Amino acid sequence: MPEPHRAAVATNEGDPTIARGAAVRLSVEELRKTYRTGDRVVEAIRGLDLAITEPGFFAVMGPSGSGKTTLLHLLAGLDRPDGGRIEVGGERIDELPEAALTRYRRQRIGIVFQQFNLLPTMTALENVMLPGTLDGRPAAQLRARAAELLAELGLADRLEHRPDALSGGEQQRVAIARALFFDPPVLFADEPTGNLDSATSGRLWELLRRLASEKGMLVLMVTHEPAAAVHCRRVFVLRDGTLAGAFDVDGLDAGGLAVRAAELARSPA
Ligand SMILES: Nc1ncnc2c1ncn2[C@@H]1O[C@H](COP(=O)(O)OP(=O)(O)OP(=O)(O)O)[C@@H](O)[C@H]1O
Ligand SMILES: [Mg+2]
Repeated sequence: MPEPHRAAVATNEGDPTIARGAAVRLSVEELRKTYRTGDRVVEAIRGLDLAITEPGFFAVMGPSGSGKTTLLHLLAGLDRPDGGRIEVGGERIDELPEAALTRYRRQRIGIVFQQFNLLPTMTALENVMLPGTLDGRPAAQLRARAAELLAELGLADRLEHRPDALSGGEQQRVAIARALFFDPPVLFADEPTGNLDSATSGRLWELLRRLASEKGMLVLMVTHEPAAAVHCRRVFVLRDGTLAGAFDVDGLDAGGLAVRAAELARSPA
């Protein structure tokens, strides 16, 4: 068994007093985010409370426009809230100054999107090395770490391929390898299989579940697909920027899960 959370590239930044145990949790309280464009005001997140206190694979569902992507962006430090608190790994993300927030995004969490966001002129290996390259670490060390991760994700023979020479599923696995570069305790994914066929999607969900169980990570995935959420431990359902409810998957099949999620999404506030 690999020891969970032992980074092959040791990070010399961040607060070493934060134990790994404390790192695998997140919570938001009274979270608020309002977008203003011209004279149009959208309350995307309005007083959201949510907590996950252990590792595992978790899903966020809810109708289009219910605030799922906004929530993920706030948790990942890609955007700032207008109110409330966000705690990830024992750290108050909403209070971090800009430089610390950048470090948090790069080293403490991983983020995976529907669009794979790989740099087209770089090979798979170079794309995965990128977070470390930005940090100015020795190239040999970075290459070894990137190759190890790509091999772990079944891409040992694709190191020198550029994104346009990889399948969609392979590109998403490269993006996941890049997100895992600093061995983060938390991984966020926003509809990671939205651009993939169903067989490839199924393998991706298995992979995310395996990362959560074998590495002891907290993986939080936004998804519209009940077939994806059945791989998760618990489903959080958003409605109009608040938490409509949550339920444990506990052997539900995709049909049963879809019904539960739809009931919560429709339930009166
Ligand atoms: N940058 C922005 N500027 C203005 N409004 C925004 C912005 N981002 C999101 N919104 C609005 O905030 C609300 C929530 O959007 P969000 O993207 O979080 O929804 P979502 O649940 O991820 O939806 P989907 O399932 O369609 O991806 C929507 O009404 C959206 O139009
Ligand atoms: Mg979205």
